[in-house]
Amino acid sequence: MTETQTLSGTAVDGQPVPGRPVLHYTAKNTWLNDPNGLVFSEGTYHLFYQNNPHGNVWGNMSWGHATSRNLVSWAEHPVAIAADADEDVFSGSIVIDTANTSGLGTADAPPWVAVYTSAYKEGSPRAGTQAQSLAYSADQGMTWTKFAGNPVLSRSTANFRDPKVFWYDGDRGGYWVMVAVEAHDHTVLLYRSGNLREWEYLSEFGPAHATGGEWECPDLFALPVDGNAGMVKWVLTVNINPGAVAGGSGGQYFIGEFDGVRFTADHLLAAAPAPGASAPTLRDYQWLDWGRDYYAAVSFSNAPDNRRIVIGWMSNWDYANQTPTGPWRSAMSLARELSLAMVGGRPQLIQKPVLPDLAESQGRVFGLATAVTVEDSSRPVHSSSSGEALIIRAEFLAGTARRFGLDFRETGPAGEVTGQTTLRYDAAGGDLAVDRTGSGNAGFHPLFPSVESCPVTLRDGVLALEIVLDHCSVEVFAQHGESTITDLVFPAPGGRTVCLVADGGDVTLSKLSVVAIG
Ligand code: FRU
Repeated sequence: MTETQTLSGTAVDGQPVPGRPVLHYTAKNTWLNDPNGLVFSEGTYHLFYQNNPHGNVWGNMSWGHATSRNLVSWAEHPVAIAADADEDVFSGSIVIDTANTSGLGTADAPPWVAVYTSAYKEGSPRAGTQAQSLAYSADQGMTWTKFAGNPVLSRSTANFRDPKVFWYDGDRGGYWVMVAVEAHDHTVLLYRSGNLREWEYLSEFGPAHATGGEWECPDLFALPVDGNAGMVKWVLTVNINPGAVAGGSGGQYFIGEFDGVRFTADHLLAAAPAPGASAPTLRDYQWLDWGRDYYAAVSFSNAPDNRRIVIGWMSNWDYANQTPTGPWRSAMSLARELSLAMVGGRPQLIQKPVLPDLAESQGRVFGLATAVTVEDSSRPVHSSSSGEALIIRAEFLAGTARRFGLDFRETGPAGEVTGQTTLRYDAAGGDLAVDRTGSGNAGFHPLFPSVESCPVTLRDGVLALEIVLDHCSVEVFAQHGESTITDLVFPAPGGRTVCLVADGGDVTLSKLSVVAIG
């Protein structure tokens, strides 16, 4: 079985579209959305995901399946858990039930258990409700059987979904914990179980912070702060659609304590503050990503060395069904490794892309011999050929420029500029912005052209960026993962020229390395 995806520039309605991403998972010729049931076992990462096996728009929701050994090159497998006449198979998670607590395997052959949402269809006795169900696998996730006793947890409500299950080791023994949402109520519900079949209500969290849309796809996990095993905090992530910071879909998170029953956030901003104080805005909350296209991120079960690795869906419900690609539609984000660090006096998530040593295995590496300074001008610092994905690591030493950054100019066969995505740091505002309004095909949906920004603080006058440009996306990791912006872009097929830009003064690009892959 080969684990590399082929590049395939294709056309939709006669229009040229960008090539298939090389560093991101796409299904061969179908639709995908949320990552589901991320699980690591015996050197292999399994990615299950919301998939329409019969088309490239949302529908017939089933779990697709892909595997990878390095989180970049993926092999697609047959559909794992399929929709049937009674239910769509919505998002959820997978645990390896090592002690066979569920009885769905044997002690010698522990079952993999998927906990998913049954979205009951018209004609089902449970039509209109959503409840949590099980499926199990005896062959490392390749084939699945739905549990005869489904659903295992129902509230007889219409929007109870997206169970994420993990093993919790408490002072008085361990048990399974499920976090799921009542999407319309903006609440995360917590349950516990000894056997994955019977669930006991524990508590709930929310509404809190952003509540302008449905809450979806929660996750809950512990991480040490600054690597200090004596200072562990719990992170509750909750996705929201619409109503996220960049518009439409996005993910917020809360940091606090989990005592085995209840999650308590350390810092909650009151929606209606004391008289005289200003109400918080969306930008005052903590976000997993400040771009338009990072949604439904969840973490792997059983990741090696206790690493907390997440993957998100790289799209936005505002326009996901219309993105100009084909026959596939939607890609996963790069995998990200999460940690917690004290930043500005309080813990926050740090996110780093998981990129295996591509430079040596597949890519070509370019470096900057000496620092480059520009003043009120722009200068090309790298050109790439058609079909290449770029991993760019850059450090800027701020000078007098009011705004500085990089332009990613899309170039046609004769080197002509066909579009561009820009990245700018605004020195006075302390903001980093991605502008895709002039990028390739931005006109396929009225909500697509946009400018996204996030607060970024310089350190000793330095801005450090890691940028991954694939054929239809840009992911920016600022200040070694303190903040991220993920945006789709759809350039016409062609090369790219990276330009250093300064407005209203000067800036120095002190470090630059580019890995070109493809
Ligand atoms: C999030 C979501 C989930 C649901 C799934 C259906 O994108 O709406 O809440 O389980 O997608 O595909």
